[in-house]
Amino acid sequence: MQKSMNTRIKTFRTIEELATLCIKWLSEKTSGSRNVTIALSGGRTPLAMFEALKNEDWSKVDVNKLRLFWVDERCVPPDHSDSNYGNAISFLTEFFGIPAACIFRMHGENDPLNEVERYGQLINTQLDKEDGFPVFDLTYLGMGEDGHTASIFPGNEDLFDSKKWCATTNQPQSGQHRITLTGSLINHSKEVVLLVTGVSKASIVQEVVLKKGTQKYPVSLVKPTNGSLLWLLDEAAASLLPPDIIEKAI
Ligand code: 6PG
Repeated sequence: MQKSMNTRIKTFRTIEELATLCIKWLSEKTSGSRNVTIALSGGRTPLAMFEALKNEDWSKVDVNKLRLFWVDERCVPPDHSDSNYGNAISFLTEFFGIPAACIFRMHGENDPLNEVERYGQLINTQLDKEDGFPVFDLTYLGMGEDGHTASIFPGNEDLFDSKKWCATTNQPQSGQHRITLTGSLINHSKEVVLLVTGVSKASIVQEVVLKKGTQKYPVSLVKPTNGSLLWLLDEAAASLLPPDIIEKAI
């Protein structure tokens, strides 16, 4: 399989190993003089990682240099059980000590179209730019079992060619309104990490990574323009990949 030069695939045995990798990255990146901008995904996987990060040593991370954003948000109030921000915020502030002023949620309770404009302007002021696009230092993505990423679902692939930075979509099964970063903005990140766990996603990981099959999944369009793409997989999600293309994360 011909991987593009800027794509790497790593596996990890436990979520605790992943948390250690994450703290190492955060410590290194925040040791410099500039702020570190990160876009977070929602769903279950980040919550498992946040739980593991509670047991890590954050003393070498300069949390005041972090600027946290979201890749997407469900159009619900922050105290709703579906809220990506609502599920993450106590980890970020109470356990990791990240100041609230460094955290920029999408206002899921707002009118979606108004929030797309507001969040786009916020990103415009907070991030450095390249080719006219704001650049995240790191965008952390998950992947759904239908190959969606962020809230870019099958049928929303045009968001990878959008000139905009944020958009509204609907979750296909529930119709739930979503706010999402566009694929074109995601592809301008310096680093994109696709964190995927579980055997239920192994076949779609195989299809996308090995470029097999004809189905074009939104996640297969994650191709950073100048940045790097790292697939971070647990051993179950990587179980259908040839071992020779996988690096061990630790
Ligand atoms: C969301 C996410 C979404 C998520 C995938 C994987 O708001 O739900 O941004 O893209 O990353 O659906 O979710 P799990 O981690 O729960 O499998």
